[in-house]
Amino acid sequence: MFPLKEKDRRVVQVLLSAGCCPRCVLRFCCVGIQTTYRLSRKELFTELHKFLNDDESKPEAVECNQPPCKKIRLQDSEKSDDNSDLSGAAELLSSEYVLRNDQAQICTVCLGILQDQCEKEFVKKVCGEVDSASYHFSNLVFSVSLPPQLLVREHATWLLVKQEVGQQGSILAKDDILQLKEVYKWITHPLLSEELGVPVDGKSLFEISVVFAHPETDGDCHFLATVCPDCFRPTKNKQSVFTRMAVGKALEKIKDDDFLQQFPYRLEPPKGSCVVQRIQCTHNSVYVAGRYNKFSRTLPQTPWVIDGERKMESSVEELIGEPLKKLFKVDNLNFSSSGREDVDVRALGNGRPFAIELLNPHRTSFPQQELKELQEKINGSTDKIRVRDLQIVTREAIGHMKEGEEEKTKSYRALIWTEKAIGKNDIDFLEELKDLKLDQKTPLRVLHRRPLAVRTRLIHSMKVEYIDQQHFHLILKTQAGTYVKEFVHGDFGRTKPNLGTLMNMTTDILELDVESVDVDWPPTLDE
Ligand SMILES: *[C@@H]1O[C@H](CO)[C@@H](O)[C@H](O)[C@H]1NC(C)=O
Ligand SMILES: *[C@@H]1O[C@H](CO)[C@@H](O)[C@H](O)[C@H]1NC(C)=O
Ligand SMILES: *[C@@H]1O[C@H](CO)[C@@H](O)[C@H](O)[C@H]1NC(C)=O
Ligand SMILES: [Zn+2]
Repeated sequence: MFPLKEKDRRVVQVLLSAGCCPRCVLRFCCVGIQTTYRLSRKELFTELHKFLNDDESKPEAVECNQPPCKKIRLQDSEKSDDNSDLSGAAELLSSEYVLRNDQAQICTVCLGILQDQCEKEFVKKVCGEVDSASYHFSNLVFSVSLPPQLLVREHATWLLVKQEVGQQGSILAKDDILQLKEVYKWITHPLLSEELGVPVDGKSLFEISVVFAHPETDGDCHFLATVCPDCFRPTKNKQSVFTRMAVGKALEKIKDDDFLQQFPYRLEPPKGSCVVQRIQCTHNSVYVAGRYNKFSRTLPQTPWVIDGERKMESSVEELIGEPLKKLFKVDNLNFSSSGREDVDVRALGNGRPFAIELLNPHRTSFPQQELKELQEKINGSTDKIRVRDLQIVTREAIGHMKEGEEEKTKSYRALIWTEKAIGKNDIDFLEELKDLKLDQKTPLRVLHRRPLAVRTRLIHSMKVEYIDQQHFHLILKTQAGTYVKEFVHGDFGRTKPNLGTLMNMTTDILELDVESVDVDWPPTLDE
């Protein structure tokens, strides 16, 4: 059954005469039944026609003393010479008028959005674009961006209808009108779902977005700038100050009379329908985390490029990132880790936690099994690194890796060279030192990229393993961020105290390994 009531008759006539499409008519009659909007336009016109030609109340409909409002008034230039009242309107609402309306006229309110821009043909076009972007997806979000002048037209039509129902002694709040976007969803979602074979799901990470424009009527919004200059502040990245947000705000502020006085024209039928400016597919970032070991002393953590020239063949980031890129069909990624090691420092033990943001992946399901296979592949592809605990994580979880980084403890093993001969017992005293406080001026080697400062760091404890008269292993537990190399060689006195001052001789560091990074994230996986 067609869900219009007797009381709607007048409003339907007013809206049709104002050039509304059937779906907009239903919206303004507050019809909230989804299936009604999914009827074809032809069916809708037939139903409207039947409703209007239901003889019963036709005579009442014609009787109306006042036009709804002065500025936005029913008008049909061909047939009506005299616009001073509505008595001519009933004639115009013959089936002939209605059907003519169907074929030729673009809706003055939705500018075609609820006509040809929501039906099967249109949806097919969108899906064609989606196909050619070749994403894998198992559900989707559909978002549309509508030109802001639709808000102005909606407002004008609301005032028109409000006036009409006011004369019938009732009220129409703006919220009672069915939102254009809502109705648009009702119509398009089932069509999209059918065409693409997956459900529409608000929680999906895969988004299809369509941006509509209607240049012909862009000027509709401009008068609002004089009414509410505060609403339209230029912003850096927007092309126009007339954003939907700003227009919406201005329309909330403007008084009905001011609007009617200043909106300088009737809602003329537009020449053309809204046009699609852009159809875009995006997938939210996916985050992958794990731990890596680095066994090479010639492998930087991230690509090492100076003045556009590569200094090292590869990097940890690339050895892990490239296979990930291929598997998830990603254009770009963003690598981060819990601290970093120098190119000549190995990362042993449980490895260093890292996280990779995969930007706009074209794959959207990430089974753990595939991650395990990928890990195997990375392990097998090189002897420079190994990866473990590779897993999908949330963006929020990455915070665990970064938070409190400075307070964490790190363990190192350093191979030390001494200038003078040492005996086994000469180094034992180092193990007695607990929470040794260092003042470290920014090391010379990083001064080109870090500001000059003095930072205080703790060496919590040290252990020694004597090798020969000029070598020993020093195992250190330090506060994160301690410059271990500088502690050993002193950095020309910029780190105080340093191993040299403690031992009264020149000392140097030959090799350094990170033994553990005490961050218990990401969770360990059973493998
Ligand atoms: C990369 O990650 C960092 C920190 O995790 C973040 O600040 C930055 O915006 C990200 N870059 C991109 C392009 O997403
Ligand atoms: C990769 O190597 C690491 C370190 O040896 C190991 O823990 C992990 O289980 C390996 N992963 C796979 C899938 O082989
Ligand atoms: C280094 O020299 C200082 C002062 O001469 C002395 O007190 C200290 O015991 C010496 N340390 C070692 C390890 O020889
Ligand atoms: Zn419409």
